[in-house]
Amino acid sequence: MSDPRATTAPRRHLLSVADLTRDDVERVLDTASSLAASIDREVKKLPTLRGRTVVNLFYESSTRTLASFELAAKRLSADTMSIRSAGSSVDKGESLKDTALTLAAYDPDVIVMRHPSIGAPQLVARLTDAHVVNAGDGKHQHPTQALLDLYAIREALGRLDGVRVAIVGDVLHSRVARSLVQALTLVGGETVLVGPPTLVPRGIGGLGCEISHRISAIGDADVVYVLRMQRERMGEAFVPSLREYTALYGITPARVRAGQVVMHPGPMNRGIEIDPRVADSEQALVTDQVRAGLVVRMAVLYDVLTVAPVEARERAEVA
Ligand code: NCD
Repeated sequence: MSDPRATTAPRRHLLSVADLTRDDVERVLDTASSLAASIDREVKKLPTLRGRTVVNLFYESSTRTLASFELAAKRLSADTMSIRSAGSSVDKGESLKDTALTLAAYDPDVIVMRHPSIGAPQLVARLTDAHVVNAGDGKHQHPTQALLDLYAIREALGRLDGVRVAIVGDVLHSRVARSLVQALTLVGGETVLVGPPTLVPRGIGGLGCEISHRISAIGDADVVYVLRMQRERMGEAFVPSLREYTALYGITPARVRAGQVVMHPGPMNRGIEIDPRVADSEQALVTDQVRAGLVVRMAVLYDVLTVAPVEARERAEVA
């Protein structure tokens, strides 16, 4: 897994799915598959990133994303530390710029970052010499979630090309939905976004997906992808009541047909967007998604550190 270009590769980030080509996506998923095979044994640690430093900088709550990035870095033998805004100098009013410059003084190879403001990871990418991986910026992007979801779909269904995914619920506030639609389009999948008009913005059709306000539109999907109702981002009433939302769009056993798989990025609001009987059923891939998160984030850390960006590869081919 060593790459001779590692020392000469220009700095590479993962800020948005829009930065990726289909080849990039397939390479990361394939690396994740081979990592899954190699850590499926007693000694789970690989020496691949020994001597590298990965800093996780999280300005928003996280369980899965932070835990998996931290474990991914450790499994690849990198040194890692995690800084959450709560309890750090951010609480004392330190700006993102000053925090980034402070951390940059420790010379990290990768900064993994989550922030409520769109574009914050781009800012840190400009301010520091680290490779920056976006772990969620506001409503904008969550590219590693999209990659792990593709990985989990490929594992469950054996393909991505032609897979039809219905994404249901609070699309408006969802960086997961935006990233996943783009990623599915790259690999030949189809998406239909399903939810009330207040939560599915019309303009999002421009990303190349269908839109429906009827729950019956999930019927012909291979994957029912349930989104969390993001109550913390809902300043005003987007739905008349959660009870009404659940009645119209909640994913219940009666609404899921045999042969479909159900996904949710977590954290789940059981009894609101997803019925516990569905969440705990054989059809649910929620735990598979969590497991995929570890190997895919290992693959992403490896990829940003060792593979030259597309333009650099093309230039090298021309030369
Ligand atoms: C998502 C997020 O933070 O965008 N969660 C996650 O990363 N697993 C989705 C959500 O919060 O609903």
